Amino acid sequence: MDNVKVYIEQNKDRFLSELFDLLRIPSISAQSSHKGDMQTCAEWLAAALVKSGADRAEVMPTEGNPVVYAEKIVDPKARTVLVYGHYDVMPVDPLDEWRTDPFEPVVADGRIWGRGADDDKGQLYMHAKAFEAMCATDSLPCNVKFMLEGEEEIGSASLYKFCADNKQLLEADIILVSDTSMISFDTPSITCGLRGITYMQVEVTGPDKDLHSGLYGGAVANPANVLTQLVASLVDENGHVTIDGFYDDVRVLTDSERTELNKAPFSLDEYKRAVDVRDVAGEAGYTTIERTGIRPSLDVNGIWGGYIDEGTKTIIPSKASAKISMRLVPDQDFNKIAELFEKHFRKIAPRSVRVDVKFLHGGAPYVSPTDMPAYKAAEHAVEQTFGRKPLPFYSGGSIPIISGFEKILGIKSILLGFGLSQDAIHSPNESYGLDQFYRGIETLPLFYKYFAEM
Ligand code: BES
Ligand code: MN
Ligand code: MN
Repeated sequence: MDNVKVYIEQNKDRFLSELFDLLRIPSISAQSSHKGDMQTCAEWLAAALVKSGADRAEVMPTEGNPVVYAEKIVDPKARTVLVYGHYDVMPVDPLDEWRTDPFEPVVADGRIWGRGADDDKGQLYMHAKAFEAMCATDSLPCNVKFMLEGEEEIGSASLYKFCADNKQLLEADIILVSDTSMISFDTPSITCGLRGITYMQVEVTGPDKDLHSGLYGGAVANPANVLTQLVASLVDENGHVTIDGFYDDVRVLTDSERTELNKAPFSLDEYKRAVDVRDVAGEAGYTTIERTGIRPSLDVNGIWGGYIDEGTKTIIPSKASAKISMRLVPDQDFNKIAELFEKHFRKIAPRSVRVDVKFLHGGAPYVSPTDMPAYKAAEHAVEQTFGRKPLPFYSGGSIPIISGFEKILGIKSILLGFGLSQDAIHSPNESYGLDQFYRGIETLPLFYKYFAEM
């Protein structure tokens, strides 16, 4: 193992400059103007994996963005680890809130600043470099396959089909993923739960064109007024989602499970300070840990309509829209929740407007068992490099394809992420600590070592 450590130490500056090249590619999956960047990024990664030691790497086309597949088979009888990550990143707006160019990474205050620095380019590149270090020191004890997608941030639509079409190619004993966060650098953790998601868009239409709000105000329904009323009614004053049947399939934890969950170190004051709010809010009767870990939620991600430019304009807008997502927990079904949402929204809409409800994407929640060998291997690896046994942790985020892997490929995942809340993923000024990046590269080879021994 020491050789690996020495190799990492000797090559750490190059690892970083390579990551910078990856971060410079603006691979924003949500925006079609970046289509070409998705291909560029996939090709860059395939080349990087070959240079790192893969026997072969391929950019495999899908109906959407390509999947990068690479492998190194050391021994057909050895265990196989399938590494999953995503090379697409979130949009960068509001751009004027960035202190540095999101696609011109810099190091400052011991951190890498740029879009994707953590989510997920920084994290997936740790795998490429841990793999390189094991190859270069002849200490790779498992077969390795890489599957890197470019649609995670938009729901992974193409990857479900890719998995179904490539079951044999993707055969593995475990899927290893670094796309989550730890409680803190001093309190390492391994994610054992992810929430699912149902993402909807609604459009409310009133008159067939914007109208003078003096001539018609008070007599014709205003779609922006109506939409905001409807949206506001989706969550009541106790933080309960009001959609009929929404909670029907929510798994209820026992009191002792809840007590266990709340033992994780958590400071409400620090939490509030970190997001700059005077108080938290959410479902009555649950702690903040529970609200994000084991309870579903509903959020408006964006809402628009009418005049929002300089000055004033007196109109009743013809249309108003909102993007609304719901985070789901076991055993909620994302398709069923989409149907319930649509039915509910149509039911509460007044006759004076027309509503159009669209399903944008969805994904199932995931729970990772903590008694399987791969979890133990991850636990050992983290304990060795962080000096503390990691805690199992329920995250509020989603990686929809993870439950898809289990359903389609029959393979479970280990969510060994090195992110931290201060990384500000999806926000302006995303960053990733150099210590997180290098600690990750150091930890991953230990996972392989222990997993091979188990
Ligand atoms: N890496 C995140 C998910 C995440 C982050 C999980 C931190 C746990 C801790 C992932 O890239 C992500 O943002 N997923 C989306 C999925 C959605 C667009 C379908 C999310 O959670 O919003
Ligand atoms: Mn991610
Ligand atoms: Mn993300």
